Amino acid sequence: MYVWPCAVVLAQYLWFHRRKLPGKRVLEIGAGVSLPGIVAAKCGAEVILSDSEELPQCLENCWQSCRMNNLHGVRVLGLTWGQISPNLLFLPPVDIILASDVFFEPDDFEDVITTVYYLMEKNPCAQFWTTYQVRSGDWSIEALLYKWEMKAIHVPLWSFGADKEQLAGSSLPGRHTVEMMIISLARANYS
Ligand SMILES: C[S@@+](CC[C@H](N)C(=O)[O-])C[C@H]1O[C@@H](n2cnc3c(N)ncnc32)[C@H](O)[C@@H]1O
Repeated sequence: MYVWPCAVVLAQYLWFHRRKLPGKRVLEIGAGVSLPGIVAAKCGAEVILSDSEELPQCLENCWQSCRMNNLHGVRVLGLTWGQISPNLLFLPPVDIILASDVFFEPDDFEDVITTVYYLMEKNPCAQFWTTYQVRSGDWSIEALLYKWEMKAIHVPLWSFGADKEQLAGSSLPGRHTVEMMIISLARANYS
């Protein structure tokens, strides 16, 4: 089990906005150890954690995080990016989609975006809260967001107290360059 630096930053964003979370329907994709989803659940959100259907050990990590945090109401399911599956088709409505460090392999970027697009078509007011680690200046999802008619707001880390090498007792952020974005449908109209 490994928590990635992006997860600590997204968890900090959730904690900073914890008063907005009670009752929100939250889905985490590519959750792994699921730190952001666990924080959201602890703050009162209704949370579903997901990871690849083809990686049962990662789904077990999601379950284990729930057990270790006494979160018995959190659901865990397999959702593979870019694939239409019964689990995706029968998901309940969502308000917030979370993902930390899912943009680590450029070949997967469009699969992540298409899954998010599918969810937003069903939930047009949903927002995608995501953190990513800048591993190459050549990588970007801007063109994909344009193609899939989405828009992104970049959220500066200082605005939620995450511009530090240590966060909440974790030294994971370190000197990694982590960015935070809120993505929504381009046609969605809210602040
Ligand atoms: C870099 S890890 C990040 C894990 C966690 N979000 C964190 O930040 O600690 C990427 C995660 O994406 C999951 N993943 C990889 N390929 C996937 C796919 N095609 N569909 C869904 N999840 C996938 C992995 O199992 C892993 O949990």
